[in-house]
Amino acid sequence: MSQGKPSGFTKQAARNIFYGGSVFFALLFAAIVFDSEHKIPERSNAQNITESVVRGKKIWETRNCIGCHTLLGEGAYFAPELGNVYKRRGGEFIKAWIKGQPTGAPGRRQMPQFDLNDQQLNDLVDFLKWTGEINTEKWPPNIEG
Ligand code: HEC
Repeated sequence: MSQGKPSGFTKQAARNIFYGGSVFFALLFAAIVFDSEHKIPERSNAQNITESVVRGKKIWETRNCIGCHTLLGEGAYFAPELGNVYKRRGGEFIKAWIKGQPTGAPGRRQMPQFDLNDQQLNDLVDFLKWTGEINTEKWPPNIEG
């Protein structure tokens, strides 16, 4: 080495550790990304997307449910998580709930009336059922978000 006394840990060694470590972790990162990508099809539940699920998602979007609720952890924290609401409550409860809003119950946050017909309610339930069957590895961890 050009500078000073020889020592066990040279500049060259530091450089090698730096480049070697960078390459190692870049490859590890690529491998983990590949592994995750590979598992998406079996976790996404995409094979169960029916026409009613698609219609239900449109209602979900156009009525801005996400403006108050979270779905699989994403959204607003004003109202309960709905990714698991089908499992927690079932389809009949969900339809009756939506029809019965606002409850006017004192001291509780209110949800608006959306005036949905039976077909729209069924579509929404199908969408929420489908969402609940996505394998999120138990995300979100808190049952009501
Ligand atoms: C303005 C805010 C707001 C919007 C928009 C909204 N909600 Fe809600 N929702 C609430 C609140 C607040 C509650 C909880 C009320 C309570 O517990 O008394 C609730 C509760 C619910 C529940 C019952 C949840 C449970 O855990 O029992 C369902 C199902 C639901 N909402 C579905 C929807 C759907 C579907 C949409 C869109 C069409 C929607 N909400 C839009 C505020 C909202």
